[in-house]
Amino acid sequence: MATHFYTASSLDGFIATLDHSLDWLLSQDIDLEGPMAYPSFEKNVGALVMGASTYEWVMRHEERQWGYTQPTWVLTHRDLELPTGAAVELTSDSVSEVHARAVAAAEGRDVWIVGGGDVAGQFADAGLLDEVWVQYAPVTLGSGAPLLPRRLDLELLEVARNRSFLCGRYRVVRDEGETNRP
Ligand SMILES: NC(=O)c1ccc[n+]([C@@H]2O[C@H](COP(=O)([O-])OP(=O)(O)OC[C@H]3O[C@@H](n4cnc5c(N)ncnc54)[C@H](OP(=O)(O)O)[C@@H]3O)[C@@H](O)[C@H]2O)c1
Repeated sequence: MATHFYTASSLDGFIATLDHSLDWLLSQDIDLEGPMAYPSFEKNVGALVMGASTYEWVMRHEERQWGYTQPTWVLTHRDLELPTGAAVELTSDSVSEVHARAVAAAEGRDVWIVGGGDVAGQFADAGLLDEVWVQYAPVTLGSGAPLLPRRLDLELLEVARNRSFLCGRYRVVRDEGETNRP
């Protein structure tokens, strides 16, 4: 199992506009059966972790019909409305504790850090992020929610073109002797 940050980004490194719009992304052409597309990635995902803004976007976009079957942890300090009948838990526990619970729930499958960028950064800070997958859309936004606001060294593992998207998969290069993993 591994912990992945899988996301789409503008070419200039933003994953949403400042007002949390993804219109620039959802209008792009992608082959869902093509390389590095979401359906094949999601097949190996056993648990999700996301920040509150991402959760609120999903709830708005899906009109409160939760689309994920995997157990999900939402990092927040607020008492947000939960979807009915879905395995979604709100938490402000440390990312290490949340990660341990997500790994256990995933039962050998991968953990997906859905976003935003700083949440992925918090997992990287704790030495718990293994891979970063980015689908770059052919657009620049000039400002917005940052892709991954940290200094990280990454090793490029895979590249693909999927219609409008330039897709990259990277391994997070950790310092020798890092011991934060459970
Ligand atoms: N392009 C894509 O594929 C893609 C993917 C994912 C997300 N997005 C979008 O990108 C935007 C990301 O927004 P964002 O940067 O605001 O990030 P976010 O990570 O979704 O949400 C940030 C919020 O999460 C909570 N939080 C973060 N860390 C926490 C911690 N350790 N403990 C407790 N709560 C914590 C805080 O909310 P509280 O105030 O509730 O504590 C914080 O303000 C959203 O619009 C989302 O829809 C795009």
